[in-house]
Amino acid sequence: MDREVIILKSRDEIEKLRRSNIIVAEVLEILKEKVESGISTMDLELIADEEIRKRKAIPAFKGYRNYPFCLCTSVNEEVVHGMPSKRKVLREGDIISIDLGVLYDGFYGDSAVTVPVGEVSEEAERLIRVTETALERAISRTREGNRLMDISHAVQEYVEGEGFSVVREFVGHGIGRRLHEPPQVPNFGVPGRGVRLKEGMVLAIEPMINAGKSDVRVLDDGWTAVTVDGRLSAHFEHSVAVTSKGPYVLSRL
Ligand code: MF3
Ligand code: CO
Repeated sequence: MDREVIILKSRDEIEKLRRSNIIVAEVLEILKEKVESGISTMDLELIADEEIRKRKAIPAFKGYRNYPFCLCTSVNEEVVHGMPSKRKVLREGDIISIDLGVLYDGFYGDSAVTVPVGEVSEEAERLIRVTETALERAISRTREGNRLMDISHAVQEYVEGEGFSVVREFVGHGIGRRLHEPPQVPNFGVPGRGVRLKEGMVLAIEPMINAGKSDVRVLDDGWTAVTVDGRLSAHFEHSVAVTSKGPYVLSRL
């Protein structure tokens, strides 16, 4: 089927994706600085909405399958797709994943970070560090000639070696003129398998890592994914282009 074909991007198109992702990165940078005890996830949503509009971009998640917000804000045991709420007030010791997508000039940007609220437990700190490092390791495998599962395996091998677990139900994705394009980018897999990476592929790589077991369930709101065991989860995401010069992290400032 046509929707399974991986759309290769020209240099011009990659530069357009870069613009969209710079907007995402700038807004995430602002939001990271606002994270502190006492702020609600809805406060972050309102700041994001304003900063996106200021940059003449369109929030990508709002309206996507009827999702109502610009941001996904996933706190502690929430894995992904947590919904901003006035009642969800951050407290010292929490961790929060902020995930943002925008559309600008026909192309999407998508990135996520997990940040601590003040002082957090040693486990929380290590979970954040391991998840970010897993993403960096995955990015380093995002090269011409490698296979897709080399990326996936890089995350799994490192994370499991650190005693944490990889979420299976949600995956990364291709990105371009659509928020989600082929291929799916799992955070687990057998090295040497999957499609061969080619110049012009652009992937949103997004490890979702649990401190305890990998099982997740979705709450009755239809969106919020949480760990079944109630332990912490972290999430980082970058949009990355495969170029002849190696990985180009479009969502890094
Ligand atoms: N970064 C996530 C993704 O690319 C966020 C999607 S949230 C949704 O799948 F609301 F748009 F679904
Ligand atoms: Co994504």
